[in-house]
Amino acid sequence: MGQRLSDSQYRIEPLNTSHDRAAFSCGEAALDRYIRQSAGQDMRRRVTVVYVLVDAAAPRTIAGFYTLSASSVSLHDFPLEMARQLPKYPSVPVALVGRLASSLHCQGQGCGALLIVDALARSCAISGTGMGVAAVVVDAKTEQVTAFYEKYGFMRFHATTPPRLFIPIRTAQQALSPGQTAD
Ligand SMILES: CC(C)(COP(=O)(O)OP(=O)(O)OC[C@H]1O[C@@H](n2cnc3c(N)ncnc32)[C@H](O)[C@@H]1OP(=O)(O)O)[C@@H](O)C(=O)NCCC(=O)NCCS
Repeated sequence: MGQRLSDSQYRIEPLNTSHDRAAFSCGEAALDRYIRQSAGQDMRRRVTVVYVLVDAAAPRTIAGFYTLSASSVSLHDFPLEMARQLPKYPSVPVALVGRLASSLHCQGQGCGALLIVDALARSCAISGTGMGVAAVVVDAKTEQVTAFYEKYGFMRFHATTPPRLFIPIRTAQQALSPGQTAD
């Protein structure tokens, strides 16, 4: 484990052509291929926004990234307790963090935390004023990584392979701004 990051030297911004995608490596071949080959095209086609974490001292180097898209989940996929609090429409609007990864150079230093907290904060901001978003959903890719998301309050949907997790938007809002009531 290396030194922990100081938040202030890092920023998170939408992927653009100045970022060095070819150099990114997180140890998961599919995620490396995604950022190198598909992320730019997905942004141009407006199917996702890819947010990258960069160090202000080396702003071309991608320390980590996540993708954020509008999506929906069947009402019946949510646990009964949450489904009861939602209107009885067949599908529930969610923000989907489809991919998230830290560079091998940065793992264990707080990059993953900055990325997931940013994804939650952005989703809460959108939900409040821009678009209906009742929950944030993540695709965890492997069983092993579910524990990372559970640390931030995500819960498993039952019987999904690969694992899929969610956090109600109100829970995320309360975690990010304790003391504030989510209307
Ligand atoms: C999973 C991943 C994003 C974690 O990123 P990271 O930069 O190492 O995470 P951080 O250093 O910010 O760790 C934040 C916290 O999560 C914990 N954590 C990190 N990886 C974890 C894992 N696989 N399981 C459980 N907890 C984990 C850390 O111990 C830390 O806990 P602490 O705050 O109590 O110290 C990173 O290992 C990665 O990119 N892996 C390859 C790609 C991948 O599997 N992506 C996820 C699927 S889309």
